[in-house]
Amino acid sequence: MRAARIVLRGASGSSAAAAPAPRAVERFSRYSPSPLSMKQLLDFGSENACERTSFAFLRQELPVRLANILKEIDILPDRLVKTASVQLVKSWYIQSLMDLVEFHEKSPDDHKALSDFVDALIKVRNRHHDVVPTMAQGILEYKDSGAADAGSSQNLQYFLDRFYMNRISTRMLMNQHILIFGESKSGNPSHIGSIDPHCDVVAVVQDAYESARLLCDQYYLVSPELKLAQVNGKLPGQPIHIVYVPSHLHHMLFELFKNAMRATVEHQESQPALTPIDVTVVLGNEDLTIKISDRGGGVPLRIIDRLFSYTYSTAPTPVMDNSRNAPLAGFGYGLPISRLYAKYFQGDLNLYSLSGYGTDAIIYLKALSSESVEKLPVFNKSAFKHYQTSLAADDWCAPSKEPRNLSKEKAEAAP
Ligand SMILES: Nc1ncnc2c1ncn2[C@@H]1O[C@H](COP(=O)(O)OP(=O)(O)OP(=O)(O)O)[C@@H](O)[C@H]1O
Ligand SMILES: [Mg+2]
Repeated sequence: MRAARIVLRGASGSSAAAAPAPRAVERFSRYSPSPLSMKQLLDFGSENACERTSFAFLRQELPVRLANILKEIDILPDRLVKTASVQLVKSWYIQSLMDLVEFHEKSPDDHKALSDFVDALIKVRNRHHDVVPTMAQGILEYKDSGAADAGSSQNLQYFLDRFYMNRISTRMLMNQHILIFGESKSGNPSHIGSIDPHCDVVAVVQDAYESARLLCDQYYLVSPELKLAQVNGKLPGQPIHIVYVPSHLHHMLFELFKNAMRATVEHQESQPALTPIDVTVVLGNEDLTIKISDRGGGVPLRIIDRLFSYTYSTAPTPVMDNSRNAPLAGFGYGLPISRLYAKYFQGDLNLYSLSGYGTDAIIYLKALSSESVEKLPVFNKSAFKHYQTSLAADDWCAPSKEPRNLSKEKAEAAP
């Protein structure tokens, strides 16, 4: 993770956040984000796709999403917000919001405005490239300062889930517009932006497995095989296709394969051959389910929930020197971010483990595109309340360490 520097620039590029910025944040944060359905996203890219409609929608919606999350950053603990990294992230969000707001003065019929808008989106997307490691750096600094107690850790988890979900959503919208209306039509011609209307789930599974296997071979010089089964419960015998974003699915599967491979190789060190990773892909009426089973020794129930906490990892912290290959594990972001990708279109990702044996990781996606609708955080009263409530006192008895000596208590109670 690289060290962050503060570069605060206003709308005009001058130093210090420009005065209109807070007003714009206030203004746009009053609106709630408008979640799009997969169908609406596809409509933007259909034959009668209208760049003007997409422009008019995004110049309003993107600032709304940015402003909503900026309001949430502002109620984080002071010591976190004041870290150089969080200040830097904040400055990116404010700058991008201001860049996009400028287009409110332009007419959707102005061709130059439309092409400038694509350029602005590319600039915003690039500016936000390092948001995840920079925010992670801020969290580490804050945690190292010793200021984070159990209550604030819970709030941080709540915030990061919403912050990264917001980021997934804004990148999705920007990418769609850039890919559909930008000049370089380098994408897959059968895709609508980044959406594949006929996403071949099994092919993505195989692809993600191969990518993870490459890394695993580099680290351990061995890797487990893949055993794949598919069941099409809707059209038996037919290949499984859904409307989905293949890059999102690839991301989740790649993370789960890396975890399963690491667990398998490390747990079966002394065995002559590695057990394969078993994958089952099932298409039902409502869900598309992918189960990835490994025999990597599993995880005790006590810590399963913790695996989804940002920064939880049992791998040694990898060194980021850009000269080496990507690490197989180490930041602890693999599972929580993958679960967000699954939840983004109303799916989920869970881990079920048999401690001493192995783990089943299950991805649930919506089988019907009509049910795939963006899941978005909104900054409102109940979100605000969430940050205010400290940890409630535990209302279940804690087991005492020493068993009570009942015979003594009885003797004392006797007349
Ligand atoms: N299939 C599995 N079997 C056993 N332990 C697992 C499995 N999947 C995850 N874990 C445990 O959960 C931890 C967190 O996983 P996660 O993918 O979030 O982070 P990571 O793999 O440590 O780092 P990275 O961010 O690079 O993925 C792992 O360090 C590991 O201890
Ligand atoms: Mg991982």
